[in-house]
Amino acid sequence: MSQQTVLITGATAGIGRTTALHLAAAGYRVIATGRRSQELDRLRAEAPAGSELHTQVLDVTSTESIEAAAAEVARLTGGHGLDVLVNNAGFGVMGPVSELSDADLRRQYDTNVFGLMAVTRAFLPAMQKRGSGRIINVSSIGGRVTFPFMGAYNSTKYALESLSDAMRYELAPFGVQVVLVEPGVIRTEFADTAMGPVTRFAGTAYGPAIAKAETLRTRMEATAVGPEVVAKAIHRAIASASPSARYVAPRFGHLMLAALNITPTRLLDWGFRRVSFLTRKELAPVSAPQPLAAAR
Ligand SMILES: NC(=O)c1ccc[n+]([C@@H]2O[C@H](COP(=O)([O-])OP(=O)(O)OC[C@H]3O[C@@H](n4cnc5c(N)ncnc54)[C@H](OP(=O)(O)O)[C@@H]3O)[C@@H](O)[C@H]2O)c1
Repeated sequence: MSQQTVLITGATAGIGRTTALHLAAAGYRVIATGRRSQELDRLRAEAPAGSELHTQVLDVTSTESIEAAAAEVARLTGGHGLDVLVNNAGFGVMGPVSELSDADLRRQYDTNVFGLMAVTRAFLPAMQKRGSGRIINVSSIGGRVTFPFMGAYNSTKYALESLSDAMRYELAPFGVQVVLVEPGVIRTEFADTAMGPVTRFAGTAYGPAIAKAETLRTRMEATAVGPEVVAKAIHRAIASASPSARYVAPRFGHLMLAALNITPTRLLDWGFRRVSFLTRKELAPVSAPQPLAAAR
């Protein structure tokens, strides 16, 4: 089989970066994309000798940026287009859902959902025309279960799960396969990006619980594994002649999902509230709500 061309979004860090290097070493022609051009330069310099790793600036929320990347892919592949698109770029807005602004929710959906779909639409026509291609969407275990203070992020991954299921049915007749990769807790820059701004909720009823969120983060990070596990799962999803609909990485995530599925909701709620300090005594007093008329 001739060399396959794979484009990865969000390859300046974490899972995307590791996957770019892993696939380049495995003999794929990789187009690693991201917003930080300096990081892309560093990535290119780290590519294994003899491998083919190209880089391209791509912000998934920018139409112009997507168009420029699509033009570069057409040029690089002589009009063939991508064999595989890995939609990996994403981040998490953390915080109590009721305290998040419209702007928070919009920027979360702009990258994780609308950006991903815009990139997909840009590269899909060449796949449909050829009658072959594969789209790997990096979702999360958090696309199957919701964690406290992660509702906004989790909801984007739930959306991605559903959109991917629909595309899997709808694109199969065109020879295009859609696969979900669902990482568990992975050691990357993700937590720093997500947890950085949560101190802004200090003045809300959730302030004391949020202040302790660092403890929760430390507990979760104790179970974290390196991004190579996800890079390997993505590789399996690309290389398989007949890929599964979902790849959980690491594989023991299946056990967690199975356990969560059979746990009664009341018990699950109790557990989640306990570990994230969502008990009445941990909440700061809430000032009396303003009557609607007075609030206007
Ligand atoms: N780490 C985990 O525990 C975990 C678990 C489940 C799922 N995931 C998913 O795995 C994917 C990769 O996350 P990660 O853990 O590798 O986090 P990371 O180390 O923070 O990397 C995220 C990547 O996404 C990029 N990105 C963010 N917004 C972008 C945009 N608008 N356009 C292009 N690129 C953008 C970042 O680029 P910049 O350098 O430009 O910011 C970075 O390269 C995400 O979809 C995440 O939801 C992660």
